[in-house]
Amino acid sequence: MIGGTTRVCAVIGDPIKHSLSPPMHNAAFRSLGMDLVYVAFRVRKDELRAAIEGIRSLGILGVNVTMPHKTRVLRFLDKVDVTAREIGAVNTIVRSDSELHGYNTDGQAALASLASLGCSLSGSAGVILGAGGAARSIAYHLCRVVESLTILNRTRSKASSIAGKARMWSGARCRSHRLDRTSLRQELSEASLLINTLPVHVFPRIGKTLIEQRLVRPGMLVLDINYQSKNDFLAEAKLAGAKVSDGLDMLVRQAALSFRIWTGRDAPIEIMREAAIKARRTCPK
Ligand code: ATR
Repeated sequence: MIGGTTRVCAVIGDPIKHSLSPPMHNAAFRSLGMDLVYVAFRVRKDELRAAIEGIRSLGILGVNVTMPHKTRVLRFLDKVDVTAREIGAVNTIVRSDSELHGYNTDGQAALASLASLGCSLSGSAGVILGAGGAARSIAYHLCRVVESLTILNRTRSKASSIAGKARMWSGARCRSHRLDRTSLRQELSEASLLINTLPVHVFPRIGKTLIEQRLVRPGMLVLDINYQSKNDFLAEAKLAGAKVSDGLDMLVRQAALSFRIWTGRDAPIEIMREAAIKARRTCPK
């Protein structure tokens, strides 16, 4: 029951109405009998500062931050933990006393999702498609465990900036190339791990899907951070014998990490997953 003592958690972004975070977190709060509720706020770019002030004045406990605010939000927070600062993006805010602290749980969730496939990442050769915020947070964690990491992106300079940072963060061999059919074929011939951070709508511009069965080796680990239920990219990889993980698993894991930051408790992860799968069914493709 929502009452006078109920505290609020929220997600801010634009667009936001199809977010799976409210059903996931509300299912978790309900199952643990917590006096908390989770809502989605559409916040336009030029209203971000005011929205953050609103979090302070309304005493909101915890906030997830999504597109397009993950980078710009840093300047409005009182403290940003070292991982989020190095990545340059925040996806979780917690109110601690009267201060707002920022964290980034995306990369950690991606690695946990890959680890759940039951193979070791250590010593592997990884390829990341894309060089946006998600790619940066995954590269931050991945470069510490793999032997080599290649970033492929339409805009080469952005890929090369992440590869440069990853070299600073770790001892891994990190390179970058412009993303095209040739570089994709070449890099995948040596890779044991492939992570796609590109949006779904990119695929038709390169081919029916960006990945083809013949480019994937059996046993390869493949993660696509997109969480639509129909996923041609992963379907092709699976047919080729890869072990695949979709973005829904990563989404649930990042939500569980946020939940822990806000409440100090372990999240009921299977209940959150169930709620996310159910909500995804009603999500537009
Ligand atoms: P996110 O935070 O989800 O990673 P982002 O920071 O906006 O989102 O990054 C989007 C990624 O998708 C980038 O790698 C972008 O490539 P550019 O760096 O060249 O912009 C890539 N992307 C978006 N639209 C694309 C398209 N039509 N073709 C190829 N790549 C595209």
